[in-house]
Amino acid sequence: MAVDMKTLEEEFKQQNKSCLLLGASGETGKQLLAELLERNIFSKITLIGRRKLAFEGKELENLVQEVVDFEKLDDFAAAFQGHDVAYCCLGTTKAKAGADGFFRVDHDFIVKSAELSKSGGCSQFHLMSSRGADSKSSFLYLKVKGQVEAEIEEMGFNRLAVYRPGVLLVDRQESRPAEWMARKFFGALTSVCSTPMAIPIESVGRAMVSNTLLLQQPEKKATEILEHKDIASLAKGNAK
Ligand SMILES: NC(=O)c1ccc[n+]([C@@H]2O[C@H](COP(=O)([O-])OP(=O)(O)OC[C@H]3O[C@@H](n4cnc5c(N)ncnc54)[C@H](OP(=O)(O)O)[C@@H]3O)[C@@H](O)[C@H]2O)c1
Repeated sequence: MAVDMKTLEEEFKQQNKSCLLLGASGETGKQLLAELLERNIFSKITLIGRRKLAFEGKELENLVQEVVDFEKLDDFAAAFQGHDVAYCCLGTTKAKAGADGFFRVDHDFIVKSAELSKSGGCSQFHLMSSRGADSKSSFLYLKVKGQVEAEIEEMGFNRLAVYRPGVLLVDRQESRPAEWMARKFFGALTSVCSTPMAIPIESVGRAMVSNTLLLQQPEKKATEILEHKDIASLAKGNAK
């Protein structure tokens, strides 16, 4: 059955919901925030991060920023209270943080944030994971992504959406080999279109917001895994 996204958007807006966003300073988080502001479906958006972000020249009345110490997240439980929806776009790389640092951010910080969101009353959790996430993988990255998905599923959110995109197409300052390769091979096309391997970061943000509206529907399962092609399709306006 075709879904009228505009109608869902209007219905959602009337419910005056609030959301929290972890990782708004990152590439995915930035795009997601832009999409949330553009579509204006929440009455309040709380950014939770380790530093305050500056939004020059913009009036952002419904935006709140909470600066937290991720090493002591329990001390900041109040920041996680009272949100209907949570989006998690946190992450680092082994190259940047080492294997232990990667686990600390991509597992410990994310799982703890999900716990605090759940106990703070959040019913819908959106997790940026990765293509190939698998708790049994011999690759650290994919193994950790799979573990985190499973641990958050155990928490029993009313709705959990797990996004598993392939390579993100993004103009990042920092060098990331997989992203560089994707841009090199798919060229200019990649700035606007998804390919079976790679997806523009804007599409991920758009899909996450559309999915927030769709997850309200009673027939949806408690856990939904969106693979790369599902994210690309949703970003084009097709409901899964
Ligand atoms: N890049 C890809 O191709 C790709 C593909 C599939 C899935 N993913 C996954 O998607 C997620 C988002 O990726 P992205 O490329 O958007 O990430 P990103 O640009 O590197 O942003 C990561 C976010 O996590 C925060 N963060 C990192 N280390 C932290 C720490 N020690 N303490 C607190 N916050 C910390 C960053 O905050 P600061 O700005 O303060 O550092 C930033 O907000 C990640 O989980 C990634 O594994 C990425």
